Amino acid sequence: MAKTYKIGYFVGSLAKGSINRTLSKALIRHAPDNLEFTEIPIKDLPIYSWDYDEDFPAEGRALKQAIEASDGILFVSPEYNRSIPGGLKNAIDWGSRPWGANSFARKPTGIIGASPGGIGTAVMQSSMRAVLSFLDAPQLNAPEAYITFRPDAFGSDGEVTDESTASFLRHYMEEYAAFVERVLAVNAPGHIGDSDPDVSMLSS
Ligand code: FNR
Repeated sequence: MAKTYKIGYFVGSLAKGSINRTLSKALIRHAPDNLEFTEIPIKDLPIYSWDYDEDFPAEGRALKQAIEASDGILFVSPEYNRSIPGGLKNAIDWGSRPWGANSFARKPTGIIGASPGGIGTAVMQSSMRAVLSFLDAPQLNAPEAYITFRPDAFGSDGEVTDESTASFLRHYMEEYAAFVERVLAVNAPGHIGDSDPDVSMLSS
């Protein structure tokens, strides 16, 4: 029997009618049975400042605990102004600090997103890859997943009416599950988050 993995997922949009929230539901529907999903909420986080580092508020502590309790992290996000939405970047900043306690270190990650436009969040994903590299978080490199959202292809509960889209999402989640398994197989337990890259900028 396949081992079960806990996946914490971020939805990068705070909008009530978010197409990326719909995409997250579709991804969960099409994921292998051995992945268990828990959303890591971002909407109640204050704007991060290192003034909080000495005493994180409950929202910041809960976020870090949720990341650390996850075997893998999945980001499902829109692209805002050709980059990462502010709310999601703020959550990542919270998870990365205080210095020396970066919760993302060595966590296998996947990045996927939808937009109504043709490039399907490609530029946001490129920005995310730079951020996650700096945070020492391994990323699923292939397949890439740039979803052009067509409302007729998705129901509000993540039902997918178009078979080629359903098949792609299934394939993406199977590859993500295999990637999580591979990364965890080489990352010794107990070492997650115990070291930051030896980069002097991190300590500034
Ligand atoms: C957008 N949108 C957008 N789309 C895109 O493909 N590239 C972009 O750079 C942007 N920039 C952008 C900025 C801001 C502030 C907003 C509000 C929107 C359009 C965006 O893809 C669309 O609104 C999606 O519906 C956003 O995803 P959610 O929030 O519905 O999940």
